[in-house]
Amino acid sequence: MDEQKVSPPHVLIFPLPLQGPVNSMLKLAELLCLADLQITFVVTDYLYARLLRFSNIQTRFDCYPGFQIKTVSDGLPEDHPRGDRFMELFDSLKSKTEPLFKDLLISLNDSGNHRPPVTCIIADGILGFTGDVANEVGVPIFSVRTISACCLWVFFCLPKLIEAGEFPFRDDDLDALIKSVPGMENYLRRRDLPSFFRSGNLADPNIQLYKTECTENARANGLILNTFEELEGPILSHMRSVCPNIYTIGPLHAHLKAKLAAKETLPPAFSNSLWKEDKSCITWLDEQPLKSVIYVSFGSLAVMTKDQVIEFWHGLVNSSQRFLWVIRPDSIAERDWDHRSTVDLSEGRKERGYIVGWAPQEDVLAHPAVGGFLTHSGWNSTLESIYEGVPMICWPYFLDQQVNCRFVGEVWKLGLDMKDTCDRSIIEEMVRNLMEVRKEEFLQRADQMSKSAKRCLSEGGSSYCNLDRLIKDIESMSTSAIPLN
Ligand code: UDX
Repeated sequence: MDEQKVSPPHVLIFPLPLQGPVNSMLKLAELLCLADLQITFVVTDYLYARLLRFSNIQTRFDCYPGFQIKTVSDGLPEDHPRGDRFMELFDSLKSKTEPLFKDLLISLNDSGNHRPPVTCIIADGILGFTGDVANEVGVPIFSVRTISACCLWVFFCLPKLIEAGEFPFRDDDLDALIKSVPGMENYLRRRDLPSFFRSGNLADPNIQLYKTECTENARANGLILNTFEELEGPILSHMRSVCPNIYTIGPLHAHLKAKLAAKETLPPAFSNSLWKEDKSCITWLDEQPLKSVIYVSFGSLAVMTKDQVIEFWHGLVNSSQRFLWVIRPDSIAERDWDHRSTVDLSEGRKERGYIVGWAPQEDVLAHPAVGGFLTHSGWNSTLESIYEGVPMICWPYFLDQQVNCRFVGEVWKLGLDMKDTCDRSIIEEMVRNLMEVRKEEFLQRADQMSKSAKRCLSEGGSSYCNLDRLIKDIESMSTSAIPLN
């Protein structure tokens, strides 16, 4: 009889190739490395070059012999803006990257390979083709989504919205309530839906893409989410009616930090930035009073007009509050702005303001001088802020951000929703409200939620247990015996 061996677990992780998802998926990869799983992390050539340039990913993962990176092309020219024209990125990933991904998976499973074959895939659920490839090659797959459960649930319900005649909107009233998203009937307005819903066009490529979220995610072995039960429990219960096996293991950035802190031999968590971090802002923060600074950042993708920047500038200065503002080099529409304008703005700042091109955000939010966050409500930023107990003013740009922002303001009551306005007097008023007038109220709420987030990561907490369960489920997938060569 042939001798049999059990293949050790080997997970292939394929994130959506954008800053936010790659950032959180690298954290998941490291969490799985800490559990001694073999990991192949697949990233596009374009992002890998930037990770090599701006992060210490190479030396970082040298600590984990079971970790390797493989790259595939996203099929786009070097100078394509990618995230800012992400439908083109999706099209290219589907047409150009899918066959490369399949070839890579097959080559990893080649018996001549020195690593064990891939025993399961964890891929971003928006990349539906990864599910097709997994089925063809015969490898089980988990779906992962790096957006909030509340937004994902809206996407799950998109076919219902269309069926109920709620989309396209029948008139221009953006304050009308949406009734076809169970659990959100009392507060979700048309204006809180992702901004592409306003196109009013059923054929909009975004609508076509997100319409299949429910079926795509439900066909995987399980759905991994960067959130926690105490934050999104009621929405998660609805999601479980269509997608029963959900692993809520967030906030991932803090989950990793907690696990690393327990292993004294390993270096602390690091950032996976795609831009060079300007750490001088931490020195500046060190000189500011406790909870006196509002941190302003609109994430990795948002692009603003010159007029919007000017409104924020006046609103912030007029609020008389101290501020630390991230103005990414590529975040202002080119035709409107040139480098001199940033210099003028920077030189024109009063002693209360500090501007950088990219900040070490997790450290900034954890800094005792920071008392508020003016954010675009990207999901990573939202979780990082919640974890550190920092109240928010939300000015969403696109996608899940419109929904997150409604939850921050109306459901979790962790701050103020400024969507659809960009006016210096409103900005000034909101900043004053958050940092002065209603400061104690927001800080108290934020502190409570921060404590829940911390509890869910400690032994016996929901995210702690769900990660253990995920690891056990991954291990059980590799126990089918394979013949020795
Ligand atoms: C977008 C989406 O809106 C988001 O919800 C989705 O999950 C991914 O795509 P993005 O603009 O990248 O997100 O924002 P966000 O999800 O908040 O991620 C930005 C990341 O960059 C955060 O982890 C943040 O800590 C980091 N960052 C941002 C820095 O390290 N420095 C900065 O100066 C700004």
